[in-house]
Amino acid sequence: MGAKKGRVVSGARPTGRQHLGNYLGAIRNYVALQEDYECIYFVADLHALTTLKDTDKIREWTYEMALDWLAAGIDPEKTILFIQSHTPQVSELHTILSMLTPLGWLTRLPTFKEKVRQQPDNVNYGLVGYPVLMTADIVLYKADTVPVGRDQAPHLELAREIVRRFNYHFGEVLVEPQAKYTDFPKVLGIDGQQKMSKSLNNHIEIAAEPEEIRERVMRMVTDPQRTHRHIPGRPEVCNVFTFHGFFSPDDVEQIEQDCRTARIGCVDCKRLLAQNIADYFAPFRERRAALAAEPDHIWDVLADGARRATAIASQVLAEVKEAIGLPPVR
Ligand code: TRP
Ligand code: SF4
Repeated sequence: MGAKKGRVVSGARPTGRQHLGNYLGAIRNYVALQEDYECIYFVADLHALTTLKDTDKIREWTYEMALDWLAAGIDPEKTILFIQSHTPQVSELHTILSMLTPLGWLTRLPTFKEKVRQQPDNVNYGLVGYPVLMTADIVLYKADTVPVGRDQAPHLELAREIVRRFNYHFGEVLVEPQAKYTDFPKVLGIDGQQKMSKSLNNHIEIAAEPEEIRERVMRMVTDPQRTHRHIPGRPEVCNVFTFHGFFSPDDVEQIEQDCRTARIGCVDCKRLLAQNIADYFAPFRERRAALAAEPDHIWDVLADGARRATAIASQVLAEVKEAIGLPPVR
Protein backbone atom coordinates (compact mmCIF):
# COMPACT_ATOMS: atom_id res chain seq x y z
CA MET A 1 0.00 0.00 0.00
CA GLY A 2 3.06 2.27 -0.06
CA ALA A 3 3.77 5.61 1.60
CA LYS A 4 0.37 7.18 2.02
CA LYS A 5 -0.91 10.00 4.18
CA GLY A 6 -2.59 7.75 6.67
CA ARG A 7 -5.26 5.17 7.15
CA VAL A 8 -8.91 5.77 6.44
CA VAL A 9 -11.74 3.67 7.82
CA SER A 10 -15.38 4.21 7.03
CA GLY A 11 -18.55 2.22 6.72
CA ALA A 12 -22.23 2.54 6.02
CA ARG A 13 -25.23 0.51 6.96
CA PRO A 14 -26.45 -1.69 4.13
CA THR A 15 -29.21 0.16 2.31
CA GLY A 16 -29.16 -1.57 -1.06
CA ARG A 17 -28.92 0.38 -4.28
CA GLN A 18 -27.24 3.69 -3.67
CA HIS A 19 -28.75 7.04 -4.56
CA LEU A 20 -27.40 10.45 -5.56
CA GLY A 21 -27.20 11.51 -1.91
CA ASN A 22 -25.03 8.50 -1.06
CA TYR A 23 -22.91 9.19 -4.10
CA LEU A 24 -22.33 12.91 -3.56
CA GLY A 25 -22.07 12.62 0.22
CA ALA A 26 -19.91 9.53 0.57
CA ILE A 27 -19.07 7.29 -2.35
CA ARG A 28 -17.23 9.80 -4.53
CA ASN A 29 -15.14 10.76 -1.49
CA TYR A 30 -14.41 7.14 -0.71
CA VAL A 31 -13.20 6.74 -4.27
CA ALA A 32 -11.05 9.88 -4.21
CA LEU A 33 -9.43 9.06 -0.86
CA GLN A 34 -8.01 5.84 -2.27
CA GLU A 35 -5.33 7.87 -4.04
CA ASP A 36 -3.78 9.34 -0.93
CA TYR A 37 -4.76 7.03 1.90
CA GLU A 38 -4.72 3.40 2.76
CA CYS A 39 -8.47 2.79 2.81
CA ILE A 40 -10.62 0.29 4.62
CA TYR A 41 -14.34 0.37 3.83
CA PHE A 42 -17.02 -1.89 5.15
CA VAL A 43 -20.72 -2.62 5.04
CA ALA A 44 -21.96 -2.10 8.60
CA ASP A 45 -24.34 -5.05 8.78
CA LEU A 46 -24.13 -5.30 12.57
CA HIS A 47 -25.04 -1.64 12.90
CA ALA A 48 -28.13 -2.38 10.82
CA LEU A 49 -29.42 -4.58 13.63
CA THR A 50 -30.37 -1.70 15.91
CA THR A 51 -33.77 -2.19 14.36
CA LEU A 52 -34.87 -5.69 13.39
CA LYS A 53 -37.32 -4.48 10.81
CA ASP A 54 -35.53 -5.36 7.61
CA THR A 55 -33.15 -8.15 8.57
CA ASP A 56 -34.47 -10.28 5.73
CA LYS A 57 -33.07 -7.65 3.37
CA ILE A 58 -29.57 -7.35 4.83
CA ARG A 59 -27.97 -9.89 2.52
CA GLU A 60 -29.44 -8.42 -0.63
CA TRP A 61 -28.82 -4.83 0.45
CA THR A 62 -25.23 -5.64 1.34
CA TYR A 63 -24.67 -7.13 -2.08
CA GLU A 64 -26.35 -4.26 -3.91
CA MET A 65 -24.40 -1.66 -1.96
CA ALA A 66 -21.06 -3.41 -2.49
CA LEU A 67 -21.88 -3.72 -6.19
CA ASP A 68 -22.57 0.02 -6.48
CA TRP A 69 -19.43 0.91 -4.55
CA LEU A 70 -17.26 -1.29 -6.74
CA ALA A 71 -18.84 -0.04 -9.95
CA ALA A 72 -18.33 3.54 -8.74
CA GLY A 73 -14.61 2.95 -8.40
CA ILE A 74 -13.82 1.40 -5.03
CA ASP A 75 -10.82 -0.61 -6.10
CA PRO A 76 -10.21 -3.82 -4.15
CA GLU A 77 -6.60 -3.82 -5.36
CA LYS A 78 -5.94 -0.63 -3.42
CA THR A 79 -8.58 -0.84 -0.76
CA ILE A 80 -9.88 -3.34 1.76
CA LEU A 81 -13.62 -3.76 1.25
CA PHE A 82 -15.46 -6.12 3.57
CA ILE A 83 -18.55 -6.89 5.61
CA GLN A 84 -18.38 -5.78 9.25
CA SER A 85 -19.61 -9.05 10.75
CA HIS A 86 -16.91 -10.96 8.85
CA THR A 87 -14.32 -9.64 11.27
CA PRO A 88 -15.73 -10.85 14.61
CA GLN A 89 -12.82 -9.14 16.40
CA VAL A 90 -14.88 -5.98 16.21
CA SER A 91 -17.47 -7.45 18.55
CA GLU A 92 -14.77 -8.48 20.99
CA LEU A 93 -13.21 -5.05 20.98
CA HIS A 94 -16.65 -3.54 21.37
CA THR A 95 -17.12 -5.51 24.61
CA ILE A 96 -13.79 -4.33 25.94
CA LEU A 97 -14.38 -0.68 25.02
CA SER A 98 -17.89 -0.77 26.47
CA MET A 99 -16.33 -1.23 29.91
CA LEU A 100 -14.44 2.02 29.45
CA THR A 101 -17.47 4.01 28.38
CA PRO A 102 -19.58 5.76 31.02
CA LEU A 103 -23.23 5.24 30.22
CA GLY A 104 -23.85 8.97 30.53
CA TRP A 105 -21.57 9.67 27.54
CA LEU A 106 -23.89 7.54 25.43
CA THR A 107 -27.32 8.55 26.67
CA ARG A 108 -26.35 12.22 26.33
CA LEU A 109 -25.65 11.94 22.60
CA PRO A 110 -28.05 13.82 20.33
CA THR A 111 -28.04 10.86 17.95
CA PHE A 112 -29.20 8.57 20.74
CA LYS A 113 -31.91 10.96 21.88
CA GLU A 114 -33.16 11.18 18.32
CA LYS A 115 -33.36 7.38 18.07
CA VAL A 116 -35.30 7.22 21.32
CA ARG A 117 -37.78 9.65 19.81
CA GLN A 118 -37.98 7.61 16.62
CA GLN A 119 -38.34 4.19 18.21
CA PRO A 120 -39.49 4.61 21.81
CA ASP A 121 -40.61 0.98 21.95
CA ASN A 122 -37.24 -0.39 20.96
CA VAL A 123 -34.54 1.32 22.98
CA ASN A 124 -32.29 -1.71 23.11
CA TYR A 125 -28.87 -2.18 24.64
CA GLY A 126 -27.21 -2.26 21.22
CA LEU A 127 -28.76 1.06 20.32
CA VAL A 128 -27.16 2.70 23.34
CA GLY A 129 -23.85 1.04 22.50
CA TYR A 130 -23.99 1.87 18.77
CA PRO A 131 -21.22 4.51 19.02
CA VAL A 132 -19.02 2.12 20.99
CA LEU A 133 -19.29 -0.43 18.20
CA MET A 134 -18.50 2.36 15.77
CA THR A 135 -15.44 3.24 17.85
CA ALA A 136 -14.36 -0.38 17.67
CA ASP A 137 -14.78 -0.31 13.87
CA ILE A 138 -12.31 2.53 13.69
CA VAL A 139 -9.69 1.77 16.32
CA LEU A 140 -9.50 -1.91 15.39
CA TYR A 141 -7.55 -0.75 12.34
CA LYS A 142 -5.75 2.15 14.04
CA ALA A 143 -7.34 4.48 11.52
CA ASP A 144 -6.37 8.15 11.85
CA THR A 145 -8.92 9.54 9.38
CA VAL A 146 -12.64 8.85 9.20
CA PRO A 147 -14.70 10.29 6.34
CA VAL A 148 -18.24 10.76 7.63
CA GLY A 149 -21.19 13.08 7.44
CA ARG A 150 -21.57 15.88 9.95
CA ASP A 151 -24.32 13.98 11.72
CA GLN A 152 -21.59 11.61 12.88
CA ALA A 153 -19.50 14.30 14.60
CA PRO A 154 -20.66 13.39 18.14
CA HIS A 155 -19.74 9.76 17.47
CA LEU A 156 -16.25 10.69 16.38
CA GLU A 157 -15.81 12.87 19.43
CA LEU A 158 -16.88 9.97 21.59
CA ALA A 159 -14.47 7.65 19.81
CA ARG A 160 -11.65 10.05 20.59
CA GLU A 161 -12.63 10.18 24.25
CA ILE A 162 -12.74 6.41 24.52
CA VAL A 163 -9.30 6.19 22.91
CA ARG A 164 -7.86 8.77 25.31
CA ARG A 165 -9.31 6.90 28.24
CA PHE A 166 -7.94 3.59 27.01
CA ASN A 167 -4.49 5.00 26.39
CA TYR A 168 -4.47 6.76 29.76
CA HIS A 169 -5.16 3.52 31.59
CA PHE A 170 -3.27 1.02 29.48
CA GLY A 171 -0.60 2.90 27.53
CA GLU A 172 -0.46 4.45 24.07
CA VAL A 173 -1.90 1.59 22.07
CA LEU A 174 -4.85 3.05 20.21
CA VAL A 175 -4.89 5.87 17.64
CA GLU A 176 -7.13 8.91 18.10
CA PRO A 177 -9.16 9.22 14.91
CA GLN A 178 -9.88 12.51 13.14
CA ALA A 179 -13.16 13.09 11.35
CA LYS A 180 -12.99 14.21 7.73
CA TYR A 181 -16.37 15.69 6.92
CA THR A 182 -17.58 14.80 3.49
CA ASP A 183 -21.26 15.60 3.41
CA PHE A 184 -21.06 19.08 2.00
CA PRO A 185 -23.48 19.96 0.58
CA LYS A 186 -26.65 18.51 2.01
CA VAL A 187 -28.34 16.62 -0.78
CA LEU A 188 -32.11 17.05 -0.76
CA GLY A 189 -34.53 14.59 -2.26
CA ILE A 190 -36.84 15.21 -5.21
CA ASP A 191 -39.30 16.77 -2.77
CA GLY A 192 -36.79 19.61 -2.33
CA GLN A 193 -37.52 19.51 1.41
CA GLN A 194 -35.87 16.58 3.14
CA LYS A 195 -32.51 14.93 2.85
CA MET A 196 -32.48 12.39 0.05
CA SER A 197 -33.21 8.98 1.48
CA LYS A 198 -34.50 5.64 0.36
CA SER A 199 -36.93 5.39 3.26
CA LEU A 200 -38.60 8.65 2.20
CA ASN A 201 -38.71 7.46 -1.41
CA ASN A 202 -37.49 10.88 -2.55
CA HIS A 203 -34.31 9.47 -4.06
CA ILE A 204 -32.78 8.80 -7.47
CA GLU A 205 -30.71 5.63 -7.72
CA ILE A 206 -27.33 5.98 -9.36
CA ALA A 207 -27.98 2.70 -11.17
CA ALA A 208 -31.32 3.91 -12.53
CA GLU A 209 -31.87 3.66 -16.27
CA PRO A 210 -32.19 6.99 -18.15
CA GLU A 211 -36.00 6.67 -18.37
CA GLU A 212 -36.30 6.27 -14.64
CA ILE A 213 -33.92 9.16 -13.98
CA ARG A 214 -36.03 11.34 -16.27
CA GLU A 215 -39.24 10.25 -14.61
CA ARG A 216 -37.91 11.15 -11.15
CA VAL A 217 -36.24 14.39 -12.19
CA MET A 218 -39.46 15.59 -13.84
CA ARG A 219 -41.16 15.20 -10.45
CA MET A 220 -38.59 17.39 -8.69
CA VAL A 221 -39.88 20.39 -6.79
CA THR A 222 -38.58 23.72 -8.17
CA ASP A 223 -38.79 27.33 -7.07
CA PRO A 224 -42.35 27.48 -5.64
CA GLN A 225 -42.73 31.12 -6.73
CA ARG A 226 -42.32 30.15 -10.34
CA THR A 227 -45.95 29.30 -10.91
CA HIS A 228 -45.94 30.33 -14.55
CA ARG A 229 -43.51 29.86 -17.38
CA HIS A 230 -43.05 33.63 -17.77
CA ILE A 231 -42.26 34.28 -14.09
CA PRO A 232 -38.50 34.42 -13.52
CA GLY A 233 -37.08 31.76 -11.20
CA ARG A 234 -34.61 31.85 -8.34
CA PRO A 235 -31.95 29.23 -8.87
CA GLU A 236 -30.63 29.69 -5.33
CA VAL A 237 -33.79 28.18 -3.86
CA CYS A 238 -34.20 25.50 -6.50
CA ASN A 239 -32.98 21.97 -5.86
CA VAL A 240 -32.88 21.26 -9.59
CA PHE A 241 -30.31 23.99 -9.87
CA THR A 242 -28.24 22.51 -7.04
CA PHE A 243 -28.00 19.29 -9.01
CA HIS A 244 -27.03 21.18 -12.16
CA GLY A 245 -24.09 22.41 -10.10
CA PHE A 246 -22.82 18.83 -9.91
CA PHE A 247 -23.89 17.31 -13.14
CA SER A 248 -23.95 20.23 -15.59
CA PRO A 249 -20.71 22.11 -14.91
CA ASP A 250 -20.59 23.49 -18.46
CA ASP A 251 -24.19 24.70 -18.54
CA VAL A 252 -24.68 25.95 -15.03
CA GLU A 253 -23.96 29.64 -15.65
CA GLN A 254 -26.23 29.78 -18.66
CA ILE A 255 -29.01 28.03 -16.76
CA GLU A 256 -28.72 30.50 -13.93
CA GLN A 257 -29.14 33.47 -16.29
CA ASP A 258 -31.89 31.85 -18.30
CA CYS A 259 -33.82 30.93 -15.18
CA ARG A 260 -33.61 34.47 -13.77
CA THR A 261 -34.79 35.93 -17.05
CA ALA A 262 -37.45 33.26 -17.64
CA ARG A 263 -35.76 32.33 -20.89
CA ILE A 264 -35.79 28.70 -19.88
CA GLY A 265 -38.78 26.85 -18.45
CA CYS A 266 -38.56 24.32 -15.63
CA VAL A 267 -39.54 21.45 -17.89
CA ASP A 268 -36.62 22.07 -20.25
CA CYS A 269 -34.32 22.73 -17.34
CA LYS A 270 -35.23 19.36 -15.82
CA ARG A 271 -34.92 17.56 -19.16
CA LEU A 272 -31.39 18.83 -19.42
CA LEU A 273 -30.59 17.75 -15.87
CA ALA A 274 -32.01 14.26 -16.42
CA GLN A 275 -29.90 13.92 -19.55
CA ASN A 276 -26.74 15.07 -17.79
CA ILE A 277 -27.26 12.73 -14.81
CA ALA A 278 -27.91 9.83 -17.16
CA ASP A 279 -24.75 10.66 -19.14
CA TYR A 280 -22.66 11.10 -16.01
CA PHE A 281 -23.53 7.62 -14.78
CA ALA A 282 -23.39 5.87 -18.17
CA PRO A 283 -19.89 4.42 -17.59
CA PHE A 284 -20.96 3.47 -14.08
CA ARG A 285 -23.99 1.58 -15.40
CA GLU A 286 -21.77 -0.30 -17.81
CA ARG A 287 -19.29 -1.35 -15.13
CA ARG A 288 -22.14 -2.27 -12.84
CA ALA A 289 -23.76 -4.51 -15.44
CA ALA A 290 -20.44 -6.27 -16.02
CA LEU A 291 -19.95 -6.84 -12.29
CA ALA A 292 -23.56 -7.93 -11.77
CA ALA A 293 -23.09 -10.63 -14.40
CA GLU A 294 -20.84 -12.41 -11.88
CA PRO A 295 -22.32 -12.15 -8.40
CA ASP A 296 -19.81 -14.70 -7.08
CA HIS A 297 -17.04 -12.29 -7.90
CA ILE A 298 -18.55 -9.66 -5.57
CA TRP A 299 -18.74 -12.16 -2.72
CA ASP A 300 -15.15 -13.23 -3.44
CA VAL A 301 -13.96 -9.62 -3.26
CA LEU A 302 -15.74 -9.22 0.08
CA ALA A 303 -14.27 -12.48 1.39
CA ASP A 304 -10.77 -11.41 0.38
CA GLY A 305 -11.37 -8.06 2.06
CA ALA A 306 -12.45 -9.84 5.23
CA ARG A 307 -9.23 -11.87 5.24
CA ARG A 308 -7.11 -8.75 4.89
CA ALA A 309 -9.14 -6.86 7.49
CA THR A 310 -8.95 -9.77 9.92
CA ALA A 311 -5.17 -9.90 9.61
CA ILE A 312 -4.92 -6.33 10.90
CA ALA A 313 -7.78 -6.69 13.38
CA SER A 314 -6.42 -9.75 15.15
CA GLN A 315 -3.06 -8.11 15.62
CA VAL A 316 -4.49 -4.91 17.09
CA LEU A 317 -6.87 -6.88 19.31
CA ALA A 318 -3.94 -8.93 20.64
CA GLU A 319 -2.11 -5.69 21.47
CA VAL A 320 -5.19 -4.39 23.26
CA LYS A 321 -5.56 -7.52 25.36
CA GLU A 322 -1.92 -7.56 26.25
CA ALA A 323 -1.95 -3.90 27.25
CA ILE A 324 -4.93 -4.52 29.53
CA GLY A 325 -3.33 -7.62 30.98
CA LEU A 326 -5.91 -10.20 29.98
CA PRO A 327 -4.38 -13.65 30.48
CA PRO A 328 -2.96 -15.05 27.23
CA VAL A 329 -4.18 -18.31 25.70
CA ARG A 330 -1.81 -21.17 26.29
N1 TRP B 1 -22.58 5.25 12.07
C1 TRP B 1 -22.31 5.43 10.68
C2 TRP B 1 -23.58 5.96 10.01
O1 TRP B 1 -24.66 5.76 10.50
C3 TRP B 1 -21.87 4.15 10.01
C4 TRP B 1 -20.63 3.61 10.63
C5 TRP B 1 -20.54 2.54 11.43
C6 TRP B 1 -19.32 4.16 10.50
N2 TRP B 1 -19.24 2.32 11.80
C7 TRP B 1 -18.47 3.33 11.26
C8 TRP B 1 -18.78 5.26 9.83
C9 TRP B 1 -17.10 3.56 11.35
C10 TRP B 1 -17.42 5.51 9.92
C11 TRP B 1 -16.59 4.67 10.69
O2 TRP B 1 -23.47 6.56 8.96
FE1 SF4 C 1 -35.21 25.60 -11.05
FE2 SF4 C 1 -34.45 25.34 -13.55
FE3 SF4 C 1 -36.96 26.04 -12.97
FE4 SF4 C 1 -34.98 27.75 -12.57
S1 SF4 C 1 -35.63 26.93 -14.55
S2 SF4 C 1 -36.64 27.30 -11.15
S3 SF4 C 1 -33.32 26.37 -11.94
S4 SF4 C 1 -35.98 24.10 -12.51
